[in-house]
Amino acid sequence: MNHFHYKDGVLCAEDVRLDLLAEAAGTPFYCYSSATLQRHYKVFSDALPKGSLIAFSVKANGNLAVLKTLARLGAGADVVSGGELCKALAAGIPASKIVFSGVGKTSAEMRAALEAGIYQFNVESEPELAALNEVAGSLGLRAPTTLRINPDVDAKTHAKITTGTAETKFGIPFTRAREVYAHAAAHRHIEIVGIDVHIGSQITDLEPFEAAFTRVAELVTSLRADGHSITRLDLGGGLGVPYENSNMPPPDPDAYGKMVSRVTKGLGCSLSFEPGRLIAANAGVLVSRVIYVKQGEAKTFLIIDAGMNDLIRPALYEAHHEIAAVVEPAVGSPRPKYDVVGPVCETSDLFASDRPLPELKSGDLVAILSAGAYGAVMASDYNARPAAAEVLVAGEHWGIVRPRESYADLIAKDRIPDWLAD
Ligand code: LLP
Repeated sequence: MNHFHYKDGVLCAEDVRLDLLAEAAGTPFYCYSSATLQRHYKVFSDALPKGSLIAFSVKANGNLAVLKTLARLGAGADVVSGGELCKALAAGIPASKIVFSGVGKTSAEMRAALEAGIYQFNVESEPELAALNEVAGSLGLRAPTTLRINPDVDAKTHAKITTGTAETKFGIPFTRAREVYAHAAAHRHIEIVGIDVHIGSQITDLEPFEAAFTRVAELVTSLRADGHSITRLDLGGGLGVPYENSNMPPPDPDAYGKMVSRVTKGLGCSLSFEPGRLIAANAGVLVSRVIYVKQGEAKTFLIIDAGMNDLIRPALYEAHHEIAAVVEPAVGSPRPKYDVVGPVCETSDLFASDRPLPELKSGDLVAILSAGAYGAVMASDYNARPAAAEVLVAGEHWGIVRPRESYADLIAKDRIPDWLAD
């Protein structure tokens, strides 16, 4: 459920009209709904065993205002870089609720996280263990650490976002887990606290989750038998979300929570989760204005002022996003088919192909839905297109939470070396 609905014939974010926001912020812009973020956070946290840590995956949406909204609800953060760590702390997320994931943490990033006093490191390889041990040692600390285990379970999602099979770069192979834990225990500045697992994103079926968590539960028993103190389980990202109106609903958080309780029952471990998409995807839309309607030989192109640089998911993963006209179409009005494209000079700058939409003309506004996760964070300035503005709505209130980049901002990113200076 989300809070983007037509009111008096205009698409609104909560109580704010998107057409008025377009006037104020210009287009394209991302618009996030606080009520939806809050609702999704609550639905997920209510479904999980009490006391679970919900570490929002900052990679999904790193806007400080979004992070702050979630921090106020008690969320922690799952970060994968020094930059994300910095943003999470700046948004007021306590270090004691921050987990650091990712295959390539640098020593500088580890140092910053240790100095901040984060909750845990999810380590993915032996060289990383050695590096963390060394950095923690130099600070006279012990790093609270889980090892991310690759359970070799197919999450049955898009190949580019599958992370838990043997062919991917992620985690430590399940078959080598005991050996690597023994190796970890030999490091003085590593404090083994638990096990981490993450098998992919946009998972719409509970079965792969259950298969992975069952392997983790088995591992708890064998690692304890080996003498390790395993008190925490980090069960990775959240559930998939419905991107298409016609799709089967994704797994129900309650069913997920019950499965988690069943599989982890009796282990006595505290649990953490790293949802991103589930919380943010349907809490955001990308609003764009039609520049031209171009009649091609075989297709009618709706050329809008958002491009693949603003939202790359369709180009990168053939992802489906619903598109809605901001002015509500009359019931029964015609729905011609459009290819919805951006201005970027790439054929892959395509948001939707042969998509039935209400009749639209130059100047009309459209909203690309489910764009709150992996939207703005994956944007680039390709084609020298300044980053879109971001707006956060809360009831009847709204604020520009990231101003649109200006051409001056673009120019200021580069430097002219001495030998080229005039
Ligand atoms: N934890 C780890 C270790 C992850 O790698 C990810 C996502 C998450 C948590 C959050 O997963 P979620 O709850 O959002 O499913 N750009 C892609 C998605 C990449 C996801 C990568 N890892 C997309 O737009 O679909």
